[in-house]
Amino acid sequence: MVSGRRFDIKDLSLAEQGQERIDWALQEMPVLQRLMERYSHEQPLQGIRLSACLHITTETANLARALKAAGADMVLCASNPLSTQDDVAAALVKQHAIPVFAIRGESTAVYYRHIVAAMDHKPMLTMDDGADLVSQIHKSRPELIGEMLGSTEETTTGVIRLRAMARDGALQLPVIAVNDAMSKHLFDNRYGTGQSALDGVIRATNILLAGKNFCVVGYGWCGRGIALRAKGHGAHVIVTEVDPLRALEASMDGYRVMPLKEAAKLADFVITATGDKHVVDRPHLEVMKDGCVLANSGHFNVEINIEALEEMAAERHRPRPSVDEYRMADGRKLRLLAEGRLVNLAAAEGHPSAVMDMSFANQLLCAIHLAKHGRKLEKRVHGVPREIDQEVAKLKLAAMDITIDQLTEEQQDYLSSWEEGT
Ligand code: NAI
Repeated sequence: MVSGRRFDIKDLSLAEQGQERIDWALQEMPVLQRLMERYSHEQPLQGIRLSACLHITTETANLARALKAAGADMVLCASNPLSTQDDVAAALVKQHAIPVFAIRGESTAVYYRHIVAAMDHKPMLTMDDGADLVSQIHKSRPELIGEMLGSTEETTTGVIRLRAMARDGALQLPVIAVNDAMSKHLFDNRYGTGQSALDGVIRATNILLAGKNFCVVGYGWCGRGIALRAKGHGAHVIVTEVDPLRALEASMDGYRVMPLKEAAKLADFVITATGDKHVVDRPHLEVMKDGCVLANSGHFNVEINIEALEEMAAERHRPRPSVDEYRMADGRKLRLLAEGRLVNLAAAEGHPSAVMDMSFANQLLCAIHLAKHGRKLEKRVHGVPREIDQEVAKLKLAAMDITIDQLTEEQQDYLSSWEEGT
């Protein structure tokens, strides 16, 4: 572990390896590259202190490079104790002089110490993935808020927390819900989580999915992607939901839909993607099949009731790095992946870079928007401005060499008038 006043990471000697991987990821991030070139000339974040609490991955490293190139004076801390890529943290410190406070596997105490370091930077802008930094600022350092222009939030769970803060009258800043951009959740949550969550399950277990019963708990943006990709592997997908519309959608998308208590008896895999607490609970654990694999892809490690699992188990051992096998008193074995933390980040490398390209282009553009307009914005959760959403989609299409049609003048008139009818 190497710590200095200005950073706290595992091992600086990993920097070269980290840099190779960061550069590899950048090749799949053409939108961010283009914006980085544009803003390194314009310097819209000049003079802005920025603290970001994000998963420390190769893609985040490229976002940090872009923010720095745009003029920001930034520091980074982890948004999850198990998602940090230590080589990336080392490269950011050594090759890019960006202070990082993150060590893979850090304890909860160290995790929060790192958030304090991010607050000590006295940020004018913050970025969150799960709202931990902004909620800590409100709870323990409210004096920082006076100088702040605003914050951005990357994920569904963070947006839910921030909306709850706003409802309670506690939110003292304008926040942009980056997650709510169409160019974010339609792609990142669905295709990013779809691919990377299965990648995590496969890397952790190397168990064949074809022919297995694969239960997806929650059919939101992430759940839809996971179900789609599991189906592509030849698994028999079962969806469980609490929302009637989403349950209906899952059924019409061709999946079996039933209560989790029934699905638990059939499933070889159960993967949660709800943002909710204890969705897999004691009654489900009691009826699961021998050998069932349990994983979570939602933001916090609360979706599977791990305390109940611990209590029910006679013994636990770790047959593979990301697998804890719990032997129940009745002899059944249940296999929990990545300690119930986001399986795609803890057991694999997180989303593919090409999808984070769009999410992080949104982050960069929203940070610039807040730097310009933050003082005038209301202290509430704002959507991503439509021009930003459209700009990200246009840039991505251009990078993919895809052109599309334009409305003719006649069509524009038709679509904005009411006179013409049957
Ligand atoms: P969403 O709001 O679109 O979907 C969540 C779904 O779960 C909803 O349809 C809801 O009805 C359902 N649900 C809630 N409680 C349930 C229960 N007890 N049983 C069954 N279904 C239940 O949210 P989204 O965008 O799919 O995100 C889900 C979680 O994944 C959030 O925590 C989010 O922050 C996280 N996330 C994780 C990513 C990753 O890299 N692993 C990437 C993006 C989001």
